[in-house]
Amino acid sequence: MNEKLKNLILFNEEAYDKLKKYLIYNVSSVKEIFILVDNITKKYCLPTLFKYLFFLKKSHIIQINTGEEKKNIYTCIKICKEIEIKKGNRESILINLGGGVITDMGGFVASIFKRGIRFINIPTTLLGMVDASVGYKNGINLGSIKNEIGSFYIPKLLIIDINFLKTLHDKEVISGMSEMFKYGLIKDKNFWIDMKKYSLLYIKNKKLDKKIWNYLVKKSIIIKQKIVEKDPKENGLRKILNFGHTIGHALESFFMKKKKIMHGIAVANGMIHESWISYKIDKLSNLDYKEIKSTLLYLYSITYKFSNKEIEKMFEIMQYDKKNKNNKIQFSLLNKIGNCSYNCIVSNSIIKKSFLNF
Ligand SMILES: NC(=O)c1ccc[n+]([C@@H]2O[C@H](COP(=O)([O-])OP(=O)(O)OC[C@H]3O[C@@H](n4cnc5c(N)ncnc54)[C@H](O)[C@@H]3O)[C@@H](O)[C@H]2O)c1
Ligand SMILES: [Zn+2]
Repeated sequence: MNEKLKNLILFNEEAYDKLKKYLIYNVSSVKEIFILVDNITKKYCLPTLFKYLFFLKKSHIIQINTGEEKKNIYTCIKICKEIEIKKGNRESILINLGGGVITDMGGFVASIFKRGIRFINIPTTLLGMVDASVGYKNGINLGSIKNEIGSFYIPKLLIIDINFLKTLHDKEVISGMSEMFKYGLIKDKNFWIDMKKYSLLYIKNKKLDKKIWNYLVKKSIIIKQKIVEKDPKENGLRKILNFGHTIGHALESFFMKKKKIMHGIAVANGMIHESWISYKIDKLSNLDYKEIKSTLLYLYSITYKFSNKEIEKMFEIMQYDKKNKNNKIQFSLLNKIGNCSYNCIVSNSIIKKSFLNF
């Protein structure tokens, strides 16, 4: 990992010492510090931050209600106004303490308030730790279109504290694991094998040792970070991170109107569909496909029979994806477990058939 970016990511208890030093060195008064939380992270995570950095009790706390539906421009304006009223200036620092919704919105606000202020991410969900706060892009929703507005903006520090996972709901943990499976599938077969082992252990015991969590989260961050470093603006290689997301996003939008499914579940099912497509166009072996399908179905099964009309609807959703070029749906597809190609074009009939295969 690039030295500069490596210094930016700090782990567990010792991270708070470095955060304290950073803040003391970089602000002249605690009144220049703003902490963005939602009602849940205020209750479960803010006390931990105060435990390590007592002086932050005198900073400004900005609280919003939890929920993806809050991730929009109106909430961002509200946050900007609150920083403005509390006399935020170019020297202010925004600390985002929460899941992907908080780090996305906080990162976006930091990038636009007074044309950009410094910010620090402290992700408190598994998805936030391994994905949303790594990669340095943030997105907010425009109506029902996910992440349609956003910016690329790098935090000054990224603090990963595994202890926050203790209060996170199981379903959030399992959903976050889906992106970690993805890292194994696109880049590292051994990590895929480890994820298979430890996810089963988690299901059995409803917890994992801190040492194991540290390993899994660090490894995920390193895999994503290495990809992002090579292609920060998503012109090429970074697209492999979209594996499972082309169909995953379509499933997420489709089920939004029925019974909302979590992002991780949609992506896991997207990965099964897209692995089947990879197999059908002779990229992936049948053996690898079967292994992926059985592993992911065990954790993320959604039993639903799509009608032809519904498949057409989802196909339409995919055609509107902002990542497409020349009206062609662009896929990232597997060559084998641990290796992925991007910019793959697939016939419409194979895409549609992937929905009938379940
Ligand atoms: N910018 C990116 O590159 C990127 C990548 C992936 C996902 N995302 C975005 O991230 C968002 C999803 O993130 P998420 O899954 O973290 O959702 P979230 O922020 O809504 O968090 C999920 C729930 O967990 C609660 N929570 C957070 N930390 C907790 C803790 N420690 N204990 C108990 N409860 C806690 C939250 O209040 C919320 O109710 C989506 O909006 C997605 O678009 C962004
Ligand atoms: Zn995702």
